Amino acid sequence: MGAGRLEGKVAVVTGGASGIGAGTVRRFVEEGARVVVADLQHDAAAALAAELGDAAAACRTDVTAEADVAAAVDLAVARFGRLDVMFNNAGILGAIGPIAETTAEAWDATMAVLLRGVFLGMKHAARVMVPQGSGVILSTSSTAGVQGGLGPHAYTAAKHAVIGLTKSVAAELAPHGIRVNAIAPGNTVTAMTAAAITADPTAHDRTAAFIAKASPLGYAGFPVDIANAAVFLASDEARYVNATCLVVDAGQTGAGANGPNRFHRGEAAVVREGGRRNA
Ligand code: NAI
Repeated sequence: MGAGRLEGKVAVVTGGASGIGAGTVRRFVEEGARVVVADLQHDAAAALAAELGDAAAACRTDVTAEADVAAAVDLAVARFGRLDVMFNNAGILGAIGPIAETTAEAWDATMAVLLRGVFLGMKHAARVMVPQGSGVILSTSSTAGVQGGLGPHAYTAAKHAVIGLTKSVAAELAPHGIRVNAIAPGNTVTAMTAAAITADPTAHDRTAAFIAKASPLGYAGFPVDIANAAVFLASDEARYVNATCLVVDAGQTGAGANGPNRFHRGEAAVVREGGRRNA
């Protein structure tokens, strides 16, 4: 059991049946929350909810469909009485390939899950949280949402937009006591990355070894590492954290993936004008 950091809180986690979402559902319940597991993969969502007992309920949800997102929020209120945390986390890799060959249909389908889905989650969470006068909205961006060159084009655009939408909605909802933040995971071992890296969504060991090689810390991230950040942001410990994006990536975007560079080696000095060293 956890320390009860989310005791009494009620959450909806989209994409809660797998990977980061499933890891977060487990951590939220460990910390005392009750959770609606909202996912397109309903069998997996139902199995996780059954394992967690009275603290969880599964909801068949396609985040691109407004009625589905509304129903997931309504289930949280009907079953557990309120909505304290909305975690807009469902995602796909979406359209891949050169920009010149990307179809408008593939673009739209990607944006529908990664951006429209987040918008709908925010909208329906606000519907309940504004009258309640409290709440936390979290959305999963990505390191591809803070830097170019790390993901496919549509994915990168959508994940940047999630951060923009987070800031915009935070500005509106702050007076209602609602905090709105994003999380930007770096490479994390899940079905999505396993499929992308090894073509086998279940090859988690090989995926972890591959990710570890590019990690400044030398090890891969797992769903629980992102879930722990979500627990913090969802909890009252984060009461002063708003309209921001918490990057959880072992330092890949902050420190670079290549380790110490030539300025970190050799004799320490001050390099002055024209390359003159020291005094
Ligand atoms: P995953 O594939 O294990 O889980 C994604 C979940 O979203 C699945 O359960 C899937 O059924 C669900 N989903 C997909 N489309 C849906 C829809 N239309 N409606 C409802 N549910 C839907 O992948 P992972 O890695 O756990 O992804 C979770 C989030 O984390 C995504 O938003 C992803 O973009 C993001 N992310 C993942 C990173 C990684 O390295 N794994 C890094 C950065 C961001």
